[in-house]
Parts: sequence; C-alpha cells; structure tokens
Amino acid sequence: MKLSKSVVELRQEVRLARQSGKTIGFVPTMGFLHQGHISLVEQARKQCDFVVCSIFVNPTQFNDPKDFQGYPIDLKRDQALLEQGGAQLLFLPTVEEIYGPNFQSWVTLEQLPKEHCGEFRPGHFRGVATVVSVLFNLVQPDIGFFGEKDFQQVRVIEQMTADLKFPIQIIRGETVRESDGLAMSSRNVRLSESGRVIAPAIYRALQAGQELYRSGERSASRIQARVLDEIGKHADIKVQYVNVVAELDLAKCERIESPARVLFAGFLDGVRLIDNVALT
Ligand code: PAF
Repeated sequence: MKLSKSVVELRQEVRLARQSGKTIGFVPTMGFLHQGHISLVEQARKQCDFVVCSIFVNPTQFNDPKDFQGYPIDLKRDQALLEQGGAQLLFLPTVEEIYGPNFQSWVTLEQLPKEHCGEFRPGHFRGVATVVSVLFNLVQPDIGFFGEKDFQQVRVIEQMTADLKFPIQIIRGETVRESDGLAMSSRNVRLSESGRVIAPAIYRALQAGQELYRSGERSASRIQARVLDEIGKHADIKVQYVNVVAELDLAKCERIESPARVLFAGFLDGVRLIDNVALT
C-alpha cells in the first residue's frame, strides 16, 4: 500500500491508475479503523481494480471541540489493517491541505440534515458534505463506499452526489456488529467496562421495534414506543432520539407505507452512539 500525504502525490498516483485503465474505489475514513471499515475496503477490492482509502479527522464535522480533541488515533494499526484489507493507496492529508487558507466554499443540503443527528449536531453534515466533496474531487473515484451505520450520513452523501452530478456511484455497506450485536464504532473503545456490557441493549431495543413491524404493526409511534420502552430498561443509556423515518427523505412518518428505518442516537458513559435498523 502506497502512502500519499499531499494532494500532488495523490493526484499522481490516481492518474497512473487511471492511465492503466483501472477502476477506482474510495473508502473515506477518520481512522481508528474497525471491521466495519475493513469490510468496506474488502467490498471495494471486489468491485474495483484500485482501492484508495483516506484517513482524515475532519475538524469541521465536530460540533464539540472536546469530541474532536479526544478522537482516537492509531495510524500504525490502521495502516496494517488497510493493507490486510487490500487497500492500494492511503491518502493522509493535513488539515491545511484540505482546507486551504481562506477556505470558504461549503456544501450544505436543505432538508436531509435538518432532523435527527443534524438537530443535535449543528454544522456536522455541512462539514461531512464539504469534506467528502473535496475528497471526491481529489480522488475522482468510480465508486465511493459508506457504511449504513450512519444512515443519515449515507443519505446526505447519496443526495449530494446526485445533486452535484459527481460521476460516482455510492455503495452502502451493511453495519458490522460485534458478536453481542453492538454496532462497531471507533467510539466504542471509550466505553467503560460496564458501559460496554450495557451497550448491546441499543441493538436489542431496535430489534424489538423491527419484530413489532414484522408482526404487522405499521404505526410508527407504536414502534418508537416499543424501542424506547426497551432502552428505558437501562437508565445509563441517555436517549437523544429514536425516530421512525422514511428511508428516502428521512421524514418522520406516522404510518409506515414505504421503506423505513428506526434511527437511534444517545449517550452511554458520555460517549455518543448511533445505530439503526431497517423495517423489513
Ligand atoms: O464516516 C466518517 O468516518 C466520516 O464522516 C467521513 C465520511 C469519512 C467524512 O469525514
């Protein structure tokens, strides 16, 4: 796996791959990788000839400076994992490289970021959409791979890619879970021992909502109530929201009549965790 620390180096490597007729897959990350990221890299490897990953802890998507400062970093381990996963190029830009002096071109979406995480993390999706646009312009991949664990993020990126006519296909990767159901996340390492034991209750609660749907229930508020009821058994989990939403526009719905998801965000041990399940 080659390393590119600058835009010039990255562009040169990507040009070489293109000139030899290779299709390019791209997996952007913020590092401290886990199997969820690696499964995206493996998926990219299967579908593309040349796999580019980036590690960039994007300051503009953190609305809480403490969260940014405390974001875990382990570059050596990440490099080894990416290499095993089959990545051929790792882009490691500096903040200055991405956000040049006097940077002032932001990508904002009107509707999709308004509710859910966007409501509680002002500016977060503006930071995500902007950095992903910059990275797309630099890497110019054929396919970009994003995990479904952050479902609102996937929808924001799909919409932005369509609106701005990036000639890039977006592929969603399924959420990868620990054996007890906890969605893999770089933040899980910040949980205390007891928090780590409680955390899988989030997925169990979402599954309870899913089971209710599967038994024929189509009222979003009853499904939401079921999930909240289950989570409520664990006083340590501080729910930020549980929303039943239409997959396409992420609007909260009352009767579920089109593909829908239950989205969760909350805090455990002061660590913000998100998860979701499809109502299928
Ligand atoms: O999901 C992430 O890790 C980040 O939000 C992303 C897409 C790499 C943008 O910084």
